[in-house]
Amino acid sequence: MSSPANATSSQTVPVVIAVPRELIPGEQRVAMVPEIVQKLTKSGYEIRVEHDAGKGAFYPDELFIAAGAKIAPGPAGLLEGARIVLRVQPPTVADVDQLAEGTIVIGFMNATNNLAAIARMRDRKITAFALELVPRITRAQSMDALSSQAMAGGYVAAIMGAENCPKFLPMLTTAAGTIRPATVLILGAGVAGLMAIATAKRLGALVEAYDVRRAAGEQVRSLGAKFLELEINAEGQGGYARELTPEEKEKEQQMVSAAVAKADIVITTAAIPGRKAPVLITRETVAMMKPGAVIIDMAAESGGNCEMTQAGKTIREHGVLIIGPQNLPARVPFHTSQMYAKNLQSFLSLLVDKNGAVTSDFSDEILVASLLVHAGEVRHKQTLDLMSGVRS
Ligand SMILES: NC(=O)c1ccc[n+]([C@@H]2O[C@H](COP(=O)([O-])OP(=O)(O)OC[C@H]3O[C@@H](n4cnc5c(N)ncnc54)[C@H](O)[C@@H]3O)[C@@H](O)[C@H]2O)c1
Repeated sequence: MSSPANATSSQTVPVVIAVPRELIPGEQRVAMVPEIVQKLTKSGYEIRVEHDAGKGAFYPDELFIAAGAKIAPGPAGLLEGARIVLRVQPPTVADVDQLAEGTIVIGFMNATNNLAAIARMRDRKITAFALELVPRITRAQSMDALSSQAMAGGYVAAIMGAENCPKFLPMLTTAAGTIRPATVLILGAGVAGLMAIATAKRLGALVEAYDVRRAAGEQVRSLGAKFLELEINAEGQGGYARELTPEEKEKEQQMVSAAVAKADIVITTAAIPGRKAPVLITRETVAMMKPGAVIIDMAAESGGNCEMTQAGKTIREHGVLIIGPQNLPARVPFHTSQMYAKNLQSFLSLLVDKNGAVTSDFSDEILVASLLVHAGEVRHKQTLDLMSGVRS
């Protein structure tokens, strides 16, 4: 394959990819790691990394330099002549203002909460690809950043549950008596939930799980956990859950409450794309729980699966610890950055044409689905609907 080159200039000029330092508080991840830099530079890209961009994830500048990247002291030097910008968190309006027209930005865009920056990208003719819009098809698995990061989130949630639980998780037979294993209940058995189940199982807990999609049952059982059956199958479009009817919600509530009341640790991951998270644990259910029980509400950022969750906070109610963590994948930044960078490497392969130039043909179904903003237009229908009247 010839080297990726800037389509608007000579074929000998390598495409410059810029990797900024993430500025959101608590964000320890970086969009690129030295291992992938080495591969991309070998394929002909020039990679520029902002000074200390990898510090929080334990990838020092020296490792990036050794892998072939150039280190830019600040945003100006980083972005000068950059064709592609790789990010973890969505750009702010101020970030967009530093980009030249035609720059391609790839990363999570969190469109619903970031409309002003999206309007600015539209007006400044920036091209933005949103990784959360990459379709869940087999061909796109290697670029599925939603999955790689959710998986890490599920792992961290299980560890966090164990750390905050006043009990051992495994069964122990000791001279000081026999310890019964703790019960861990996982609500929502998607990517994060399945990883939380696997992790809690490895720690020796008795694990139960529930999901409105009946198809999840087989996956739960294959991990050695018990699947709570309800006479509802709410599998909706694209394998995602649909919203339940009021009668279905009532039935679900009863079954979930009984299981929650028995659990030592409850990890909730239930989400419906683009909507507020469903409430699965009411105030009354929390009051029925055992003192010392722990809820890790992974849906905290989208409203919470527990009625009492406060995003970013840990509270104790009726003796129950309710944790509303934010950005769990950033707590294992070394590996989440590595996986994210690999996702981006795969995604980049779609953006280079047979001459090694950045393509202007975005007709590949993965590019079509993830293209959020291009050539002065918002291309994603739901975001466009939300944007009427939003000015940059
Ligand atoms: N490449 C692929 O083929 C691929 C990759 C990743 C995920 N997927 C599929 O995509 C789908 C979504 O996965 P995700 O982890 O992103 O999901 P998600 O983060 O949107 O939701 C998490 C889980 O919560 C469940 N949920 C929603 N409402 C609920 C309720 N009221 N009660 C209980 N559970 C509820 C969902 O069914 C889902 O399993 C799944 O079917 C998954 O298998 C496919």
